[in-house]
Amino acid sequence: MSHVSPLKLLGLTTLSILLTACGSQSADPDSPEGQRQAAFTRMLNSSEPLDGMLRGRLAFDADIFAAHVQRLVDMADTPWEHFPEPGDSRQPNAARPTVWSDADGFANAIERYQLAVAELAAATAEQGDDPHALRAPLTQVQQACRGCHDDYRR
Ligand code: HEC
Repeated sequence: MSHVSPLKLLGLTTLSILLTACGSQSADPDSPEGQRQAAFTRMLNSSEPLDGMLRGRLAFDADIFAAHVQRLVDMADTPWEHFPEPGDSRQPNAARPTVWSDADGFANAIERYQLAVAELAAATAEQGDDPHALRAPLTQVQQACRGCHDDYRR
């Protein structure tokens, strides 16, 4: 017990308060908001390691890289079906009203993203052991994520 410094205890307490605060603001996991947010988090969980491997934060492993790309392919249709008209939903979320007011633009952003993922998958199938060949197609995917967030996420 004497090994645990007061500072460390304080840090843990602060962390748990922060986690509690975030927990109370997250959407009900069964709501459309909760389901799409979980889908986006899974997309991040696969795109982050891809970026890490190409930037040298993680060791490059062609098999792991390909597995994450496959997950992005499998998930490329997922979040979009969870954007019903907001109605009177009070679930916390960061979608802008433009998702619905500019439905065509949102559909284009989805298509751009799905095309980028398909191209990344093709590059991975052809040159999956050459990190240099994967950089440009991964950047396209990341720009498609960011481009949509710029216009449709708060
Ligand atoms: C076509 C638009 C679009 C694309 C493409 C897109 N996102 Fe998002 N993303 C959104 C919107 C809208 C939200 C806000 C959803 C909400 O709060 O209900 C969001 C939310 C998120 C969140 C927050 C989830 C949470 O827990 O609140 C993460 C993380 C995220 N996106 C990651 C990504 C990643 C990574 C990619 C690409 C691999 C991506 N997104 C592609 C529109 C998009």
